[in-house]
Amino acid sequence: MELAGRHIVLGVTGGIAAYKAAELVRLLVREGAAVQVVMTEAATRFVTPVTFQALSGRPVFTDQWDPRVANNMAHIDLSREADALLVAPASADFLAKLANGLADDLLTTLVLARDCRLLVAPAMNRQMWENPATCRNLATLRSDGVDILGPASGDQACGETGLGRMLEAEEILLEMVAHFQPRLLADKRVLLTAGPTFEAIDPVRGITNLSSGKMGYAIARAAREAGAQVTLVSGPVSLPCPQGVNRIDVSSALQMHAAVHGKVAENDVFIAVAAVADYRPAMPVAQKIKKGAQAAPPPIELVQNPDILAEVAMLPAPPLCVGFAAESEKLDEYAESKRRSKKIPLIVGNLINDGFGGDDNTLILFDDDGQHPLAPAPKLQLARQLVARIATLLAERQ
Ligand code: C5P
Repeated sequence: MELAGRHIVLGVTGGIAAYKAAELVRLLVREGAAVQVVMTEAATRFVTPVTFQALSGRPVFTDQWDPRVANNMAHIDLSREADALLVAPASADFLAKLANGLADDLLTTLVLARDCRLLVAPAMNRQMWENPATCRNLATLRSDGVDILGPASGDQACGETGLGRMLEAEEILLEMVAHFQPRLLADKRVLLTAGPTFEAIDPVRGITNLSSGKMGYAIARAAREAGAQVTLVSGPVSLPCPQGVNRIDVSSALQMHAAVHGKVAENDVFIAVAAVADYRPAMPVAQKIKKGAQAAPPPIELVQNPDILAEVAMLPAPPLCVGFAAESEKLDEYAESKRRSKKIPLIVGNLINDGFGGDDNTLILFDDDGQHPLAPAPKLQLARQLVARIATLLAERQ
């Protein structure tokens, strides 16, 4: 329940994407939020208030003269109780009013009376989105501190293709969750590696390991939620890229090494979560190895891969380096000796039997201040705690 106890006012304006707002209400409620829907008159032409009332479990407000509000100040009451205001879909007309401070209906009035963050998810035809007036309004809203979510590009209800589609409900939900996280890494740039590597033996075979990538992906998400610009160099995994994260796909340790070195100079933090193969076949064979072609099974000669983390830590001005130590025994001893040999300020230890492939994990952080055990928890929760520790270490470095 990522939004437990949060009170969100969801404004719905007139656009065909209003149907997606119904799904959004369901997702917000499922995460524990109390959702109060406010619709413009035009929005009620697309979806009826009854739909939103049923999904939110609360009567919907559309009218600033609503007789149900005893003090006749619905705009003040509604914005006062909100932890966040979200308008999805936000039409071109609504954005124009917002940019100019107009308040001629309940939604525009309560938004003007806000005392909390405002997020808007624009939805409109491609040409309306590109119109210079809309561009001007968007620039004004950005400088007024309004968070603009999307829009996405793709097929539109009008038959055109281009920018202006509202984000999907699931994507807006993730932005809402991120919005409530402390922005501990605002303006920071974070580079991560995650997943296994695949070291080719021949065109169809290789050496790899069971890393799922889940921990690295959770940290990428948590860093982005904390306001960082995140680049994720990922080995082969079957996970979707976390929202707002720039992912670079690689396969082998050498590719991961090259991708990291191409990006590292721009980053404040480097977190090596990947389970990089220590060795690779010295000479991958160009054609598939055939069974029985030789009298004996073919030997596979191995050579050592570069240690990406240790190399980054040795750079003249390295980013804050964080490593992982996945061990099956003697975690304290191995993690601390790894921290010292790689000369990194923070290493995250986990016992392999606790975390590999699963959604939960148990971690211990090792740094100059000693050991900090983190209680068993879902990987995203642990990732947020790790991000908080990294933010503290970064602040101490400056
Ligand atoms: O030395 P060991 O493989 O146990 O160290 C694990 C840590 O080092 C992890 O953070 C891992 O991502 C990183 N590493 C690396 N390049 C390698 C091997 C490990 O970046 N070739």
